[in-house]
Amino acid sequence: MAAPILVADKITKRFGDFTAVDSLSMSIQPGEILGLLGVNGAGKTTAMNMLLGLLIPTEGSIQVFGKDLTKHRVEILKQTNFCSAYTNLPSNLRVWQNLHVFAKLYGVKNWRQRMDELLELMEIPHLKDRVTGHLSAGESTRLHLCKSLLNNPRLLMMDEPTASLDPDMADKVRKAIRHVQREHGISVLYTSHNMRDVEEVCDRVVFLHKGKILTEGTPDDIKRHFAEESLENVFIRVARSGDMVPMGAAVEDAEEAEAKAHAVAETGAEAEATTRAPGRKEGDASSS
Ligand SMILES: Nc1ncnc2c1ncn2[C@@H]1O[C@H](COP(=O)(O)OP(=O)(O)O)[C@@H](O)[C@H]1O
Ligand SMILES: [Mg+2]
Repeated sequence: MAAPILVADKITKRFGDFTAVDSLSMSIQPGEILGLLGVNGAGKTTAMNMLLGLLIPTEGSIQVFGKDLTKHRVEILKQTNFCSAYTNLPSNLRVWQNLHVFAKLYGVKNWRQRMDELLELMEIPHLKDRVTGHLSAGESTRLHLCKSLLNNPRLLMMDEPTASLDPDMADKVRKAIRHVQREHGISVLYTSHNMRDVEEVCDRVVFLHKGKILTEGTPDDIKRHFAEESLENVFIRVARSGDMVPMGAAVEDAEEAEAKAHAVAETGAEAEATTRAPGRKEGDASSS
């Protein structure tokens, strides 16, 4: 197997005595789109900010392109980019001026041509002269996407890139991400709360919960292991159970739960016919 593009080794981030990311180890393979999932506050953005060198881990180390991020930060960041629905580009600049500034920062040659290609890809060439602060949320996200591809990054981090897009534009953005991945073999770390996004875009996902990895695998692996039909059901179950469920145990749990449900249903039917067992509460299906 080729060397991973990114390796995080037991990274932890503590804010005072609160641990936002707890000994997280993960890697991204060349050309892979890795989804980072988890409920609000799970630690996704904190993890991404450490992987981008914006936050210094309290513990642990990060290697990108085979090099230590703290020692080779500038060199690594030149070949990396970032896109988020929750950060703002300078609002008083026009769209083309913002892209020009970032093109200069990244040393992009033929920046006008690159800018025009990207504005076309994201279907916003008509917004080139618009003041950035006057863009709608969806337009602004598409501008962020253009900015994030300016330097043809080898590694792209996307923090909820489709959060403010309508379904049609979200679909186009997913296709654009797949397109750049296919054409340029870039690796992507992707967070989203839209499980459809994730199933369509991500080759593999890592589920974070309270800063720790709960489970990881391909979307199909994870659905199978949790015996759920959709990643959305897995997400809801993880969010509500709140506990660590190892991959192997999830299937057993699901089978056990199903067997229990059958037993309860049968007992219930019997109870209907006879008398209710003493001490048993109405609708109590969980006691065993
Ligand atoms: N600078 C900070 N100081 C204190 N707590 C923080 C800081 N940044 C994030 N946190 C906390 O860390 C946890 C994880 O946050 P975050 O990484 O933004 O989660 P996610 O992106 O998964 O929603 C949250 O409980 C959040 O309040
Ligand atoms: Mg976040």
